[in-house]
Amino acid sequence: MYYSEEILDQVCMANDIVDVIGQNVQLKRAGSNYVGLCPFHNEKTPSFSVSRQKQMYYCFGCHRGGNVITFVEEYHNMTFLEAVGFLAQRAGILLPEKEISAAEKRGMSERAELLDVNRLAGIYYYCSLRSPAGKTGMEYFISRGLSEETMKAFALGYAPKTPSDGLYRYMKSKGISDDLLRRSGLMNVDEKRGTMYDKFWNRVIFPILDPSNRIIGFGGRVMGDAKPKYLNSPETKIFDKSRNLYALNLARRTREDYLVLCEGYMDVISMHQAGFTNAVASLGTSLTPGHCSLLSRYTRRIVLSYDSDRAGVAAAMRAIPMLRKAGITPKILRLDPYKDPDELILSLGQDAMKERLENAQNALMFEIEVTRREYDLNDPDSKTRFFENTAGRIAELETEMERQNYIDAVCREYLVERGQLQELVTRRLVNPSAGDYGSGGMRAMGTALRQNDFSSSRSGFGRMEMDEGEIPSPDAEYDPAALYGYDSGFYEDEETGEMLQAPPTATRKRRSSTVREQGEDISRRLLLNYLCRYPGIFGLVKQYVGPEDFGGGLTAQAARVIYGQLEKKGKVEEASVLSHFPEAQDQMQIAGIFHTLDQASTGKEREKAVRETLVKVFAASPAASPADLGKAILRKKQEAELRSVRITL
Ligand code: UTP
Ligand code: MN
Repeated sequence: MYYSEEILDQVCMANDIVDVIGQNVQLKRAGSNYVGLCPFHNEKTPSFSVSRQKQMYYCFGCHRGGNVITFVEEYHNMTFLEAVGFLAQRAGILLPEKEISAAEKRGMSERAELLDVNRLAGIYYYCSLRSPAGKTGMEYFISRGLSEETMKAFALGYAPKTPSDGLYRYMKSKGISDDLLRRSGLMNVDEKRGTMYDKFWNRVIFPILDPSNRIIGFGGRVMGDAKPKYLNSPETKIFDKSRNLYALNLARRTREDYLVLCEGYMDVISMHQAGFTNAVASLGTSLTPGHCSLLSRYTRRIVLSYDSDRAGVAAAMRAIPMLRKAGITPKILRLDPYKDPDELILSLGQDAMKERLENAQNALMFEIEVTRREYDLNDPDSKTRFFENTAGRIAELETEMERQNYIDAVCREYLVERGQLQELVTRRLVNPSAGDYGSGGMRAMGTALRQNDFSSSRSGFGRMEMDEGEIPSPDAEYDPAALYGYDSGFYEDEETGEMLQAPPTATRKRRSSTVREQGEDISRRLLLNYLCRYPGIFGLVKQYVGPEDFGGGLTAQAARVIYGQLEKKGKVEEASVLSHFPEAQDQMQIAGIFHTLDQASTGKEREKAVRETLVKVFAASPAASPADLGKAILRKKQEAELRSVRITL
């Protein structure tokens, strides 16, 4: 650290935390504190609290907190020093010339040097484009419909064909050392001969700027069909592709409350030229969690406008869960029949783009639609699997209202009967791990679990994300079966946990052995759900079924707690049931009991459903087949009685 405590205190004191945060977050007074919606995660009710007294903030939701400097660092994506500088300037404080250690000096000056080399290169390319040698480049940009103003806004440039070492010579004329040039990524180095050539040559140039408008790298495009189409600067000390986005320096100023995430440089430029100045793109790599957290600092809503080809669809399918995890709600821009946003704007114009943006598709419906392409709905098995998969996705939604709305939407779209889909969803909710397809689980509490879920059943993604190289070749990575963990033929050995590949029949056999148990567990959970919802039936239920009739495991534990509460208070308090299960994973499972859907719509049907469930649990009790003949006869009698018992809800 190279500012003294006194200086830092002075900067903090001159920037009241409520004022600073209040400029970015709407705060309301609540007692001695201020509260608002947390800017660091997605939420609907405020859990972000700011204390003027303590000059601190804290979010009870995502547990982020700190002082005014921390806030500026986090919110504006700044380093500590940048944040201090920002706040000092805001308060009109003149910071003293810094005392820096030798190592810090080296690090700092290396970054500064690289930025300076990039700045010079940017000037060289920019001027070349506008010089006689840049005629080809200028014609190329004009042929792609770019105006002079657009070219300026994006600082577009050109690396001439001749001389092929033009940049090198220019740098030399500015006194830049070979060593620095080697580190800049702007040169190809012939190690044997110790010579250097311009990396970008006979290409149009797209400078890449960070949010503070500093050039951190370049992309260069050939003007014909040669390969590779784009060359990009390699990663350097100042160019981290997984943490920067093209045109974020411009898009961050948008008035819209969403950003458009495109695949390509030209898409972004086209969008801006057409008035959609909220477009950004990743830098020739697939989207990373780093990008998502960067995006989440600027917006909670993203419209994905990836190419409409197979690779683009696959990329969108990968991006959606990642964005959601960062607290962003993604939507999908439909481009078909055009390949990318640039083509759509060129062909249909900006009004059509505006309309498509307004009608961007809901990400879940997109996921379902894409998944659907992998199934043959004329084949009964395949069709069942598709709807199982879909039900798993719907069951992940947080609220009953959302689930119902999606069930409606899917039924309309795929012509399936409501009751049937509802049943599949209900099953998933009662037993999130029941299905063999897709991922179940409850989003409400499932962050930790979802991460596991992600790395195990969607291993196809992992492979992709580790690829740090240039954009993947189309098709190569797109294997929906691997992505979603269905029908891959792989299963986990129950004892060793090893992944094995089995012939389909063996896999099926393994499943069927546990099907009965799963069914029993579903009935038990349903019965618990009914007891929570209709405590009035407890008196009748407990005559036939006690907590010991719920088998073993988590469901039985939940039964004991729920029976205990019903005995004591005559009702069930969900939150306090959960507190008996400190493990997050257990909580999720138990929460499933409270969030079960009831497919029966009329009162009569529901009473029948409760009765049937009661019979099933009774019959599945570990006490169901006693050795004692007298007891066995008694149980049979009771079961018959139960079948016609009167249930009033
Ligand atoms: P596209 O091939 O979709 O190109 O690659 P584009 O953006 O539509 O460009 P035009 O319209 O053909 O000029 C999308 C993005 O992928 C990266 C670049 O960032 C590009 O903008 N890319 C593509 C590479 O880095 N290298 C390549 O060889 C190709
Ligand atoms: Mn394009």
